[in-house]
Parts: sequence; structure tokens; C-alpha cells
Amino acid sequence: SDHYSRPASVTPTKRAQVRGILEHEIDSELSPGDAIPSERALVTRLGVSRVTVRQAIADLVEGGVLERVHGKGTYVTGPQVDSRLHLTSFSREMRDRGLLPATVVLSAREEPADDEVAYGLRIRPGRNVVRVERLRTADGTPMAYEVGNYPSALFPGLLDRELGSLYDVFASEYGVVVTSGEQTVRAEAADAHQARVLGIAKRAPMLVQERVTYAGDRVVELATSAYRADRYRIHMAITPRG
Ligand code: GLP
Repeated sequence: SDHYSRPASVTPTKRAQVRGILEHEIDSELSPGDAIPSERALVTRLGVSRVTVRQAIADLVEGGVLERVHGKGTYVTGPQVDSRLHLTSFSREMRDRGLLPATVVLSAREEPADDEVAYGLRIRPGRNVVRVERLRTADGTPMAYEVGNYPSALFPGLLDRELGSLYDVFASEYGVVVTSGEQTVRAEAADAHQARVLGIAKRAPMLVQERVTYAGDRVVELATSAYRADRYRIHMAITPRG
């Protein structure tokens, strides 16, 4: 009878070869956020089957090198940020990680505070607040969707300013330096609007920060920031309980 068994193959499979070629091209020619060539283009250029190309891409998605963006295509994985939970601005936090922060102001207006906002900001309901809705990006990748409320009395003319880094504007234009804050973080599924703005699937997980920020004993901000859970993690240094 035939007890002969073949030695394990030492030649990489087609799938592994294609994966290696793609990995090399990603390292040498592409940047985070770039789309990879289409399956069809890869089939033609590499002279392998579509199944092999798909498998190699799937391996790289699995390994976190590539990511599929809902309804768009396959891209080189973008930035991943570990927050240290300090009282920093979004802009500073991204710059500290070597990423370029940018802001898209989605809406900004002055309106009377409702009960909830007034309570959070410790002002009377009906007093004016500036409400700013922003998309925050890092190296062009959508990171967070933020809605902040700021007392108009503290920041007259805020709507006429550049609303890129608010903490910078507070400091440089109003002499208001944030000194402390209270923050909660919770998990939430993206609604349709958040999903569209952040470029993620509806119901995709987000980490939502609710922050009240102080300058001395004045409340200067009541903000909700929804971070993409695939981009943003919270890092905690943990020490023994004293
Ligand atoms: C973080 C906080 C927000 C705050 C923002 C300020 O994202 N979660 O509450 O408004 O930082 O950042 P920047 O100064 O870049 O606007």
C-alpha cells in the first residue's frame, strides 16, 4: 500500500505570492487612505485568477493592512489613535501622534439654550449659546463627529472666527484657557447622519465622549464627540488603588 506522503510544500502558494507583491506595493507606493488597484487590474497585471486576487486582498484586510470602506472600495488602512485621556484638544491630540488634523464645519449658529444645554453649561435656559457641528479628520481620514455648545456671553463673535481648533481660538482670541473637564465615554451605534459624515456603515460602533470643560470655575463647553471605534481607542495607565 502507499504510505508515501508528500513533503510539505516550500513554494509559496499563488495566494501568498500575490499577498507579498501587494504588501510590497503598499509599503513602497501607497499611503494610508489610498485606494488599491481594482481586482480586474490586478488580475491582468499579475496574471493570476480573480479568486487568488480576492483571497490575497482578504488576507490583507484580515491582517489590518487594508480595509474595506462601506460602499466605496478597498483602501490602505488609515490612522489608528490611542487616546491618553488628557485634557487636550482634538487638534493637539492628532498632532502629538504625527497626524495632520483638519476640520469641516458642518453647521454653526447662535441659539437660545434649551434646558439640557443650559443645565450643562450652568447658564439660564434661553441664554444664547453658539452650537458648532464639526467633522474632525486626521491625515484626511474622518475620525470624529462633534457637536459643541459654548456660552455666547463668554465668546462674543465666535461665529466669525475660524472654527478649526476651538481651544486655540479660546486661548488666543478670548484669553480663555481650559483647565479641567469631566468626561464620560460610552458605546453607541452610528445613526444615518453620523454614518454618512464619518464614512462608516449605519449602526457601526462609535465611542462617544460627553465632555464638560472648565476654565477655572467657569463652564466653557458642553460637547459630544462621536469617534469611530475602528480608529480610536482609549488608553489608560492603571495603578493600584491607593
Ligand atoms: C476634543 C473634545 C471636544 C473639544 C475638542 C477641541 O475633541 N472631545 O470636546 O471641543 O477636543 O479640539 P479643537 O481645539 O481641535 O477644536
